[in-house]
Amino acid sequence: MQQDELSPRDFTRLSGFIYGQLGIKMPESKKCMLTGRLGKRLRVLELQNFREYCEYLFSDQGMQEELVHLIDAVTTNKTDFFREPGHFDYLVNTALPTMQILNRGRYRKKWRVWSAGCSTGEEPYTLAMVLSEYQEMMQGFSFEILATDVARRVLQVASRAVYPVERITPVSSRYRKKYFLRGKGSRNGEVRVNKQLRHRVSFGHLNFMDEDFGLPNMVDVIFCRNVIIYFDKQTQEKLMHKFYRYLNPGGYLFLGHSESLQGHQTPLIQVAPTVYRRSEQ
Ligand SMILES: C[S@@+](CC[C@H](N)C(=O)[O-])C[C@H]1O[C@@H](n2cnc3c(N)ncnc32)[C@H](O)[C@@H]1O
Repeated sequence: MQQDELSPRDFTRLSGFIYGQLGIKMPESKKCMLTGRLGKRLRVLELQNFREYCEYLFSDQGMQEELVHLIDAVTTNKTDFFREPGHFDYLVNTALPTMQILNRGRYRKKWRVWSAGCSTGEEPYTLAMVLSEYQEMMQGFSFEILATDVARRVLQVASRAVYPVERITPVSSRYRKKYFLRGKGSRNGEVRVNKQLRHRVSFGHLNFMDEDFGLPNMVDVIFCRNVIIYFDKQTQEKLMHKFYRYLNPGGYLFLGHSESLQGHQTPLIQVAPTVYRRSEQ
C-alpha cells in the first residue's frame, strides 16, 4: 500500500469518528476527498502514512492537539457575502414585520439573530448590513448577531473580518462604501469590515452535536444554511428540535436552498421554501 492511501480499516475509524464528533456523514464516496484533506496534515506533521496519523490522532496527545486541525480539515467552509440573497429580502420584508405584529408593533429591546455555522463570517456580516439598514428605517428597532461555528480556523478569519477585495463583489457599491475599509500599502487588495459593523456580531465556538449549546438567550431568527446537507436525517431532526428550543415563539429558521425538512419529524412549520417557523404560541 502506498503511503498516501487510506486503508479500509483507517477509513472506517476516521469516518466513524468524524460522524460521531461532528455529525458529518463520510460515505465511501468521500474517501478520496478525506485522503486529500488529511494528506496535508500528514505533510505538516511529517508522518509517513495514515496509519501513523490515526495512531497520533487517537492518542491522548492527538485528541488535545490534532482534533482541532482534523475539524478544520474535514469541514466544508464555502460561503459568500449575500449568498442566496432572497433570504435577506424575506427577512426584512416578511419575517421582521410579521414578528413586529406579533409583538404588538413594538420591538423588544434587542432582536437576536443567530448565524449557526457561520464559516468565515460573510453570512453574519451580510445580516449585520441588512439589519443596520432596517434599523435606520425603523425607529426603535435594535439587534444583535451571534455567529458560531465548530471550526476554529474559520472563526479566526471571521473575527479578523479581513477579506481579499474580490470577496465583496456581491456587495453593492453603496454598502461597500458604507461598511468596508480599503487596505492601503501592504494591505492593498484587502478590505476590512468596519468597526461599527464588526461590533454588531459576536463569534463563538459551538458544535451542533453537543447536548447543551449553552446559549445565554433565546433567539428570534436562525440562519443555518448549507450546514445540514452534510448530516443524515436523524442528526438533522435532532438539531431541528434543539433549534426549536432556542427559538422564541413565532421565530424563524432559514435553511440553505438545497436543504429541506420534507418528511422529517419536526415541530417547525414551513412558511416558504427553505423557511420555517416556530408557532406563535
Ligand atoms: C458550507 S459552510 C456554510 C456557511 C454559511 N452558513 C453559508 O451558507 O454560506 C458550513 C459550515 O458548517 C460548519 N459545521 C459543520 N459541522 C458542524 C457542527 N457539527 N457544528 C457546528 N458547525 C458545523 C462548518 O465548519 C462550516 O463552516
